[in-house]
Amino acid sequence: MIKIIKDGIIVTATDTYSGDILIKDGVISAVGKDFEAENAEIIDAKGKYIFPGGIDPHTHLEMPFGGTVSKDDFETGTIAAAFGGTTTLIDFCLTNKGEPLQNAIDTWHAKSKDKAVIDYSFHLMIGEINQEVLLQLPKVIEKEGITSFKVFMAYKNVFQADDETLFRTLVAAKELGALVMVHAENGDVIEYLTEKALKEGNTEPIYHAKTRPPELEGEATGRAAKLTGLADSQLYVVHVSCAEAVEQIAEARSKGLNVWGETCPQYLVLDQSYLERPNFEGAKYVWSPPLREKWNQDVLWNALKSGQLQTLGSDQCSFDFNGQKDLGRNDFTKIPNGGPIIEDRVSILFSEGVDKGRITLNQFVDIMSTRSAKLFGLYPQKGTIAVGSDADLVIFDPKTERVISEQTHHMAADYNPFEGMKIKGEPVSVLSRGEYVIKDKQFVGKLGNGKYIKRAKYGKQLSIEESVEALQASKS
Ligand code: URP
Ligand code: ZN
Ligand code: ZN
Repeated sequence: MIKIIKDGIIVTATDTYSGDILIKDGVISAVGKDFEAENAEIIDAKGKYIFPGGIDPHTHLEMPFGGTVSKDDFETGTIAAAFGGTTTLIDFCLTNKGEPLQNAIDTWHAKSKDKAVIDYSFHLMIGEINQEVLLQLPKVIEKEGITSFKVFMAYKNVFQADDETLFRTLVAAKELGALVMVHAENGDVIEYLTEKALKEGNTEPIYHAKTRPPELEGEATGRAAKLTGLADSQLYVVHVSCAEAVEQIAEARSKGLNVWGETCPQYLVLDQSYLERPNFEGAKYVWSPPLREKWNQDVLWNALKSGQLQTLGSDQCSFDFNGQKDLGRNDFTKIPNGGPIIEDRVSILFSEGVDKGRITLNQFVDIMSTRSAKLFGLYPQKGTIAVGSDADLVIFDPKTERVISEQTHHMAADYNPFEGMKIKGEPVSVLSRGEYVIKDKQFVGKLGNGKYIKRAKYGKQLSIEESVEALQASKS
């Protein structure tokens, strides 16, 4: 089936122009003006922007964590993502020490393949690194196309890895062509501060933030960046929340190191005072790293604008307030960390970023899509509007106004941390490989239509032909 999107304003990370997009067999076959084709479906996009589909580089769908499992799975999570203008996500595959990596990857394939309505890929957690793990990594890259490894510097006695593990991962990644991602907080010192707080009877949600001060995020970020320099490797710092971490990334980059940084919508628009909300409502705002003092928001926006931070992840890891977050009613350490963000990631960046003049329209596309495609080996199959790229497209009305609410969102969680926030602009229709997933704000996709995507090595680009071959292979 041929589709022609007519008269939209096409926006990429570099250009803005009015034109038509011709879609054939799921890919963009031409971009130009006044196309005509027999039996083509014509989509009128007058007055609308056409963006490349959003790429969310950071999600935790149906993930066991904090004594429970994150609420949104690959069904509700990908449907909500599509409503929000995201057409590809990369989820974190957790591993267990001593178990074959392939077991963990198979578990993640099993949860996703019949449910996802948009395309997806996986990052792989590295919790230990020894000869056995090292021998498995080339297969992870070649067979699975997983070209990013995640190391946690926090969550002591759960996910936390030591510096030797981080360093060995950086060295291996350099050799194999992978990007190392870190959750950068000093888990050992957090452990000390947490024990002290609990001993002193400080159990409320705000102590989650008080026991994870920004110095500990800055310190871990700087340490990871320095180890990256020593290994001559590449690093991506997830969920950057504060000035201390931005400074470390900027310093590393100023020395020419390959250090990249991601922030999340919650750090751009919410602040630490939310954790003090009465009736345990503060638990809704428990993330690691925690929300920070409000002035950090300007630092993060400026870092996105100046390119010191490059991407926006949702860090989607949702839990119900009733029945999950309240596991920590008497002890903040038992509040599951995370929140439902996937649906509002793109809209918040547009409304608070573009509409309020903090970033340009092209920067918006770069931050919400293109840069993640480039860093994580998806470009140019994903992340742009170009001949041969997948027709993952968002038709976006910049003029609509809406209010975010749990009553109308499509995520499974029973609250929305942005409840009541006014938003300008919204996706009207969303296409994944040329097929509607959202049409006129209604879900019309199909469970299982989302495909697993193998990614290119760090710094390499798959040719369009290789991308198509990889996609055909993943279908069979
Ligand atoms: O609080 C958070 N960020 N939850 C998800 C897990 C992680 O650390 O990314
Ligand atoms: Zn994290
Ligand atoms: Zn995360």
